[in-house]
Amino acid sequence: MTTKHNGPFPTELQSKIDLLKARRKPINLGSLSFDSPLLLAPMSSIGTAPFRLLMEDLGAGGTVSELISCHGINYKNIRTVDMLKIDPREKNMGLQLFGESAEAMALAAKVAQEYGPKFIDINMGCPVKKVVGTGAGSSLLKDTSTLGHFFQTIKSAIAIPLTIKIRIGWDQDSINAMEVIHIAKEEGVEFVSVHGRTRAQQYTGKANWDLLENLGKNAPLDIIGNGDLHSTGFLKDKMNNTKCSALMLGRGPLRNPFLFLEPYIKADEEIFFTPEDHLEVIYRLLEYSSEYAHSDHILLVTIRKHLIWLAAGFNNVSYFRDLIFKTPDLNETIKISEEFFCNQKDKRKRLLDHDSFMTSGHG
Ligand SMILES: Cc1cc2nc3c(=O)[nH]c(=O)nc-3n(C[C@H](O)[C@H](O)[C@H](O)COP(=O)(O)O)c2cc1C
Repeated sequence: MTTKHNGPFPTELQSKIDLLKARRKPINLGSLSFDSPLLLAPMSSIGTAPFRLLMEDLGAGGTVSELISCHGINYKNIRTVDMLKIDPREKNMGLQLFGESAEAMALAAKVAQEYGPKFIDINMGCPVKKVVGTGAGSSLLKDTSTLGHFFQTIKSAIAIPLTIKIRIGWDQDSINAMEVIHIAKEEGVEFVSVHGRTRAQQYTGKANWDLLENLGKNAPLDIIGNGDLHSTGFLKDKMNNTKCSALMLGRGPLRNPFLFLEPYIKADEEIFFTPEDHLEVIYRLLEYSSEYAHSDHILLVTIRKHLIWLAAGFNNVSYFRDLIFKTPDLNETIKISEEFFCNQKDKRKRLLDHDSFMTSGHG
């Protein structure tokens, strides 16, 4: 589908974006450099090339792909290999792989590297049974004696940096993030992203920021803190005080796509993003996704799920959701969305900080 809205953001929105983007400070994590200390977290079925591109447009300092199966790559599974595609406009992105076998991961990493990512990331946080059951994801945290060989084998297969994303441990009785980070350091891993929950917690409770701060302060590698950074206030506070080298945002930007930029708004500035700005985000996502979607149906499903997340916090959202789910047509979906966003009387979106949101995922 093509829309009349293809092309750049309207000038007013683009100038807000440019102003705030210019305030970001580039950072180095290990030997890698990023445009800001706020990175997009890997998210399965979400962190595709179009979404990563969109998030870079909206201020993400770097991005990581969704998790990609090493076996799928090695078996040349068409759908898996498709996930390795990187858009030439992407700047600072990593491809995340998952698997339990060092040799299979090394082989797959070598293939993935050819697609041009800046780094290869290993998923060591996925709590999902299907993944954990094979010994991959957060299961890798259980037996640290094998990790040296695991990292070394993968690292020696590639010429670009290797990074890992972990949870703080398997369960409350086996919190071992620091030990894992030390092994990673020995084997030349570049930086470590840490989701501040155990595998046992899945997505319940709160991310343990005391522990993340302790890692940030004392670990021998750059630590990227992750978990529950969903509101601009909490995020801004963390940016000002954290001992972590960088922060990673997953679910937050799904509901507030301007989360990478809002912390850079000064207290005395009257800058905010309007409902119409949110609609522009959808137009842009539609434009990027149209270049990648294999069918109109996939495009509709993608746009619909993002619309539902983006609409959170606006008036009449449940009515909007009902309408959207009943509409099988993309043009009609866009029309309904235009009415919804453009007719909002309150021009500021109000998200509740304590809302729990999407309590399952692969990391
Ligand atoms: C829908 C969904 C999919 C996810 N997929 C992945 C993944 O593919 N790889 C990964 O390492 N983490 C994955 N995660 C975990 C996130 O990267 C992040 O660690 C977690 O959501 C906590 O951060 P947040 O509170 O900012 O969302 C996923 C999370 C969600 C909600």
